[in-house]
Amino acid sequence: MYDKVVQSAEYIKNRLKLSPEIAIVLGSGLGDLVDSLTETEIINYEDIPHFPQSTVAGHAGRLVIGKLKGKSVLIMQGRFHFFEGYSMKEVTYPVFVMKLLGISNLILTNACGGIKESFSPGTLMLIEDFINLMPSNPLIGVNDERFGPRFPDMTEPYNLELLQVARNAAEKLSIPYGEGVYAGFQGPYYETAAEIRMIRNHGADAVGMSTVPETIAANYLGMKVLGIACITNMATGIQKVKHSHERVIEIAKKASSDLSLLINAVVEEMK
Ligand code: HPA
Repeated sequence: MYDKVVQSAEYIKNRLKLSPEIAIVLGSGLGDLVDSLTETEIINYEDIPHFPQSTVAGHAGRLVIGKLKGKSVLIMQGRFHFFEGYSMKEVTYPVFVMKLLGISNLILTNACGGIKESFSPGTLMLIEDFINLMPSNPLIGVNDERFGPRFPDMTEPYNLELLQVARNAAEKLSIPYGEGVYAGFQGPYYETAAEIRMIRNHGADAVGMSTVPETIAANYLGMKVLGIACITNMATGIQKVKHSHERVIEIAKKASSDLSLLINAVVEEMK
């Protein structure tokens, strides 16, 4: 895999004028941030050697690179989910490429269901920690020490300094936010009410189908991660109506402008 990642990274480097230092993965419906970039360059996933290809119709599937608050950033518009049938290595392949591009800070965003009582649709939750309930993870298999250690530490999956930068930014901008633990399910069905009761009792504050694999890979690779989850609905059994993907996207789109403001402010403060 190492050689493939090198080839993907070389292709991207050769196409770009900028050399990005920060990467941002945008979750479903959370695309506004792209409009904040200047000196924008775009690379479609399909053009990058060895890069996984998007399956979902209407999902962008591209890297958008540009300047944000004076820093060079790389945005992933469209991520790969385990429930789509990708292997964990494919889901996290872009994170490995980011590492070889020299990126050391990763901001992961997503749309998810809220469990904590104080949350409501539209709340942005800064992720403190995760619970991996997916049946696998991206580090399974023979380890390549060029990427990272066999037994990586997960004491601080979300970097405490970045978390503080995000809190300060949210407060300065008066953006309401919460904090909590994100539980990652495989999906693609929305969890049962019993599953939500179980994970609530185990300390989960939000639930979704992404973010955890990328967090694991980034920590393994020695990158600092900030996670921002957009609560688009309350989890099964907490909200009294059935889930709808359309509603999830509608709420995410509404929250997208706050998220964009927040990320602008975070990037500005990042070292
Ligand atoms: N569960 C899992 N994933 C989700 C949810 C949810 O309630 N809402 C948005 N993504």
